[in-house]
Amino acid sequence: MADDNFIRLVEVGARDGLQNEQRALSPETRVQLLTRLADAGLQTLEAGAFVSPRWVPQMAGSDQVLKQLPARPGVTWTALVPNLQGLEAALAAGCREVAVFVAASEAFSQKNTNCSIAESLNRVHAVMTRAREAGVKVRGYISCVMGCPFTGEVKPEDVAAISASLYQMGCYEISLGDTIGTGTPAATKALILACNQHLPLSALAGHFHDTYGMAIANIYAAIEAGVRVFDSSVAGLGGCPYSPGATGNVATEEVVYLLNGLSIKHGVNIDALIDIGVFINAELDRKVTSSVARALLAKRSNRSLS
Ligand code: HMG
Ligand code: MG
Repeated sequence: MADDNFIRLVEVGARDGLQNEQRALSPETRVQLLTRLADAGLQTLEAGAFVSPRWVPQMAGSDQVLKQLPARPGVTWTALVPNLQGLEAALAAGCREVAVFVAASEAFSQKNTNCSIAESLNRVHAVMTRAREAGVKVRGYISCVMGCPFTGEVKPEDVAAISASLYQMGCYEISLGDTIGTGTPAATKALILACNQHLPLSALAGHFHDTYGMAIANIYAAIEAGVRVFDSSVAGLGGCPYSPGATGNVATEEVVYLLNGLSIKHGVNIDALIDIGVFINAELDRKVTSSVARALLAKRSNRSLS
């Protein structure tokens, strides 16, 4: 039986994070980032995306990343795939788990994948059929679950209907993506309740971007509502190239700090995460944006002065 006092973190920094950084990193640096994150205790890590390099150049070389990553007991390296072509490339690179993605807003679906929601569900269907044949697990994302950057409001029942389709097609888990970070705790709870009409809470995950500083509050609300899986990104890397103004995913450091305060188990070493944040920010020539990382780094430097 699942331990209700354990939360599984899905580290998406090397995909959702890096896909939106100005500086594209080499496959070798991405492998270094991912192996250090696994050393820190993260067990599910999205390592890349088999999408068009014309659409997202930062994810070029994902095949090399996946091929270079060592097989490690207890660790799953996953990759995002938009269609059958992406799945075939992921399989050729040795992926044993992939993630598909669908938007809850027509406008976002067009901007992100050049097709309607219905067409992207058809693409998912084709991916599911081939993945089943190959014995590969599939996770599903839904974007814009609490708002669309182009058309505004998104209804919880529309998201719930898409979550039901993905679950029925065989996605073992549906990650609810607040792509533009406009969600609030009340909206988070309403969304989870709507999706839970169609699928069990154990099949839901939260994916919060921190654009409005609400991500941690939303995660707390989702925990209270019974969700036990969350996506996060070391150093708060990330955003979405087709979502103007979206900032990074919630920082893994911040989720771990929250869970420590709640005495919820997660298996991740926060000190190691802070070091990895310093490493990746330096590689990207980026400032430390996570409040928890800033505070813990300041504490370290005060300690070394005294
Ligand atoms: P398209 O241009 O409509 O594709 O793009 P097409 O089928 O017409 O093919 C055009 C060209 O793309 C062809 O090449 C294909 O081979 C190639 P050409 O003959 O012109 O040389 N192509 C591909 N190349 C590599 N990998 C593939 C692939 N498929 C076709 N898989 C497509 C459609 C879906 C490919 C494109 O729109 C795309 O790659 N979109 C990805 C956008 C993306 O990665 N967005 C970010 C991820 S989603 C996200 O971040 C949200 C999430 O984090 C949750 C949240 O926060 O909400 C998950
Ligand atoms: Mg995202």
